[in-house]
Amino acid sequence: MLKPNFKEARSIDKRDYQTKEFTLDPAYQNYFLGKTYFIKTYGCQMNEHDSENIEAILEELGFKKIDDYSKADLILLNTCSIRENAHNKAFGMLGRCKHLKEENPHLMVGLCGCMSQEEIVVDEVLKNYSWMNFVVGTHNFYDIPRLLVSSLKEGLQVEVYSREKDLIEQMPVSRKTSYKAYVNIIYGCDKFCTYCIVPYTRGRQRSREKEAILNEVKDLVQQGYQEVTLLGQNVNAYGKDLYDNYGLGELLEDVAHLSISRIRFVTSHPWDFNEKMINVISKYKNIMPSIHLPVQSGSNRILKLMGRRYTKESYLELVKKLKDKIPRLALSTDIIVGFPSESEEDFEETLSLVDICKFDNAFTFIYSPRVGTPATKLKDQVAEKVKEERLKRLNEKVNHYFLENNQALVGKTIDVLVEGNSLKQKDAYFGYTDTNKLVNFTGENIEVGKIVPVTITCAKTWSLDGRAK
Ligand code: 5AD
Ligand code: SF4
Repeated sequence: MLKPNFKEARSIDKRDYQTKEFTLDPAYQNYFLGKTYFIKTYGCQMNEHDSENIEAILEELGFKKIDDYSKADLILLNTCSIRENAHNKAFGMLGRCKHLKEENPHLMVGLCGCMSQEEIVVDEVLKNYSWMNFVVGTHNFYDIPRLLVSSLKEGLQVEVYSREKDLIEQMPVSRKTSYKAYVNIIYGCDKFCTYCIVPYTRGRQRSREKEAILNEVKDLVQQGYQEVTLLGQNVNAYGKDLYDNYGLGELLEDVAHLSISRIRFVTSHPWDFNEKMINVISKYKNIMPSIHLPVQSGSNRILKLMGRRYTKESYLELVKKLKDKIPRLALSTDIIVGFPSESEEDFEETLSLVDICKFDNAFTFIYSPRVGTPATKLKDQVAEKVKEERLKRLNEKVNHYFLENNQALVGKTIDVLVEGNSLKQKDAYFGYTDTNKLVNFTGENIEVGKIVPVTITCAKTWSLDGRAK
């Protein structure tokens, strides 16, 4: 058994990791032929993409995917730790699995993702869920085949590395669509914002070699993909651990030359934005004018306590520069309310920042203390009722700007990547603009996976209506 430990995760000694290629032990090939699996993915795009790898690995074992967990032979939870409610959802699901296991002793259940990296979660599993098959961490989920097979003979397998292991290339992948793809460019995060559990659960910053990334994108272009999203907890730090003079700006430029129609990238830490990146984003038509730039708070005192390394003024300066240089830029953000000691004045600083930035989209959260992070030790935790009231006020303000920005698009014609039939409107389609706005639209001869010009006819807070030209 290998249990995680946050102290070790935080240690700053430089780890010598290697890049290795994924291989599946031939003994496991089709080992579970005829069996079915259900995977539930919680959290961010990183987890979604990890699930695409895990699904492909399970399919090499012979498993077939199904959508009804109560009928599956294997249930796998790919979990998220970012806030308490993500924990609660996963444990709720494990409770349902426990009932199913009582009825069907052959049911296999596994836990992977960020929660596996937490000591308190692993202790809870050992105490109350020891009937499970395996717990595997974010650094070695490619080991699921071995752990699953071992568990059939030996019971619960726990294998979680506190620190990053080798960087694995050539992992099989079962992508959700044939037109939009995620490509990891950097794993982990070195920022250690005081509220955030990610540097502990995802490890220290490790960039993939640029050749590996460019080859993956070239392959996607050949397969006909239209859109690629370069993924990382902080993509703006890309390359810092590998190269002297090759960062996100240089990488974006090289990807732009591969003639894929749409390039996106998430998430960007404001501290790591440089001129090269801004110039490249503004220069290439296939780099989408859409930036996710989490601000977290508008109060300098709170930003300092959060360890964010910028001020309200420097954030606003960056936003101005981005808006000046990148025509039609859509800016989105993340904001936390109720960080320890946040006063009404601090919160009003956040509201005033929203008034200046007029974000196109914002993910707003109530601060959730995460065991093992420094912010839990801060005094003056904000009362739950106050946090809720601030979230409501903040949401009213951000929603106002979403609608205002959308209204400005009525009558304009914008390119939309078609994703499928609209869930809301009969005989209509949905897709996303270059600025990442959801559009429900009508039109003739519309093909999923193609980019079509759509004239916007109506604006709502979270979506647009339109008609294809
Ligand atoms: N509580 C609330 N929100 C959090 N986030 C990260 N950690 C916490 C926490 N402890 C939010 C931040 C981050 C987004 C992915 O989740 O806004 O940008
Ligand atoms: Fe967490 Fe993002 Fe801060 Fe990294 S930069 S510690 S992922 S909030």
